[in-house]
Amino acid sequence: MLMQRALLAASRRPGLRRVVVGTPATRHVVERFVAGETLADALTAVRALADDGIAVTLDHLGEDVTDRGEAKRTSDAYLAALEGLAGLGLGPAAEVSVKLSAFGQSLPDGGEDLALELVRPVVEAATALGTTVTLDMEDSTTVDSTLAVLAELRRDHPGTGAVLQAMLRRTEDDARALATAGSRVRLVKGAYREPPSAAFQDRREVDAAYARCLGVLMRGGGYPMVGSHDPVMVDLAQRLAAEYGRAADSWEVQMLYGIRPDEQRRLAAEGVRVRAYVPYGVDWYGYFMRRLAERPANLRFFLRSLATK
Ligand code: FDA
Repeated sequence: MLMQRALLAASRRPGLRRVVVGTPATRHVVERFVAGETLADALTAVRALADDGIAVTLDHLGEDVTDRGEAKRTSDAYLAALEGLAGLGLGPAAEVSVKLSAFGQSLPDGGEDLALELVRPVVEAATALGTTVTLDMEDSTTVDSTLAVLAELRRDHPGTGAVLQAMLRRTEDDARALATAGSRVRLVKGAYREPPSAAFQDRREVDAAYARCLGVLMRGGGYPMVGSHDPVMVDLAQRLAAEYGRAADSWEVQMLYGIRPDEQRRLAAEGVRVRAYVPYGVDWYGYFMRRLAERPANLRFFLRSLATK
């Protein structure tokens, strides 16, 4: 728990970022979680996953931009990604995930409007391609703003997806509000460091909240996306889908690239819809540190590889 807090705090410290990114051995570990630094690398990974019957959501790595120019570059990168995906002809089996902070959401004076303005063309391009965009969820201070942008986008593009984090105390209410026809919601446990006022701190409480929210989404009229590597949650999702008579194409399991790949293939072969979240790009530091914080085994793997290089 202490280590987890330290890693999550470190994920937002530029000084440490320079040390971690500059260590050659880090790259070897990063490759396990990140599909590559270029769009071409990402498209190669997408093709391989598609061959195994696994859909994808592509994430151009980056977050917390500091000016409008950077935010515009994020938008351009996603338009290029969608053009690349068009060439693969996978339709809705290849969508994109975006972090609004990379579109300028947190910039002072109109950041939310800027993010909406810059993400809209990405959503329009996705719709034109017959696919969707999902808005990742960042720390709890951004949830209201992200849900407001989602509501705007869903007016013209109802398939735009949201992410809800079970660890947040507010999430069960948000899940109820979003469990309506046509609404795509990825439920995750939550990867950010949050104060007790906003979030459950105990793992068991988070798991119990996840199960409750999953029940709300599975009972509702939307399209639940079960974002978890936890076998307990994936089993529960399968049981709830059966209990509520959900067709196999009315919900899906999502896992991160490089995490439990055998399980991803096994579920897909069993007829469960599976989607891998595929991050790519040079700005992998924040994403990588959150993966280390999530699981002691990931951290051990990283430390071992530093020691053997
Ligand atoms: P958790 O880490 O709680 O582990 C529970 C159990 O799962 C373990 O005890 C083990 O049995 C099994 N397990 C987990 N990892 C394993 C591994 N590598 N190998 C073998 N077994 C393993 N967060 C966020 O805040 N905003 C977001 O937008 C997103 N988006 C997102 C998309 C997708 C597709 C996923 C899968 C996750 C996210 N997340 C996220 C991250 C999420 O909030 C969470 O931090 C991680 O998924 C870790 O939680 P889990 O539910 O996977 O299991």
